[in-house]
Amino acid sequence: MDHKTGAKINLKDSYQKLEQVAKQLYPDSKVVFRWNTEDCIPLDKIPYIGEFSNLWPNVYVGTGYKKWGMTSSNVAGNIITDKILGKENPYEEVFKSTRLKPIKNHEELGNMLKEVGHSAILNKLEKIEEYTKDVKQGEGKIVEIEGKKVGVYRDKQGEIYAVKPYCTHLGCELSWNNLEDTWDCPCHGSRFTYEGKSIYDPSIKDLERIQTK
Ligand code: FES
Repeated sequence: MDHKTGAKINLKDSYQKLEQVAKQLYPDSKVVFRWNTEDCIPLDKIPYIGEFSNLWPNVYVGTGYKKWGMTSSNVAGNIITDKILGKENPYEEVFKSTRLKPIKNHEELGNMLKEVGHSAILNKLEKIEEYTKDVKQGEGKIVEIEGKKVGVYRDKQGEIYAVKPYCTHLGCELSWNNLEDTWDCPCHGSRFTYEGKSIYDPSIKDLERIQTK
């Protein structure tokens, strides 16, 4: 049940659908654990393998395997070994990590940065309850307050947590993940707890909390 990180969908359906499939295939099976994970996918969908940068010729990288890590890591092993040994590799050009191609995924690019301006200066909210009446317990959503977007989560005890809903990597607007109760970034997959703590890179900085008391 894969989905793009930060996709605006009801993720709770995902586990249910998986359980249904498991039950069909293995009627006696039981759910013992659940987890989800992420994978890097380059914008042009081809892994980056080779020199890390034109400026650092002896540093190599293999990444962006798009779920084909067992295969692509072998390709990376071969290409990088050949490069270190000074041998030609016919696949080197395909995966070249320093390639510069026009970015075709305009939607993704358009997402980036466009909201940064919105995040300006909203550090404290006095009457948060007034603005968040329709946020149910256990629910998170983005609400607009005084012309600014605010990421709000109400916990099971009714306590409200408010953050600036913009990724601390490059500023994309975050989406609420109702499966894990996290704020997820649709651009490069960073994730944050409802309290704003950074839990998944590339972002390494926490979200700004907005005081509500
Ligand atoms: Fe959020 Fe890059 S902008 S991960």
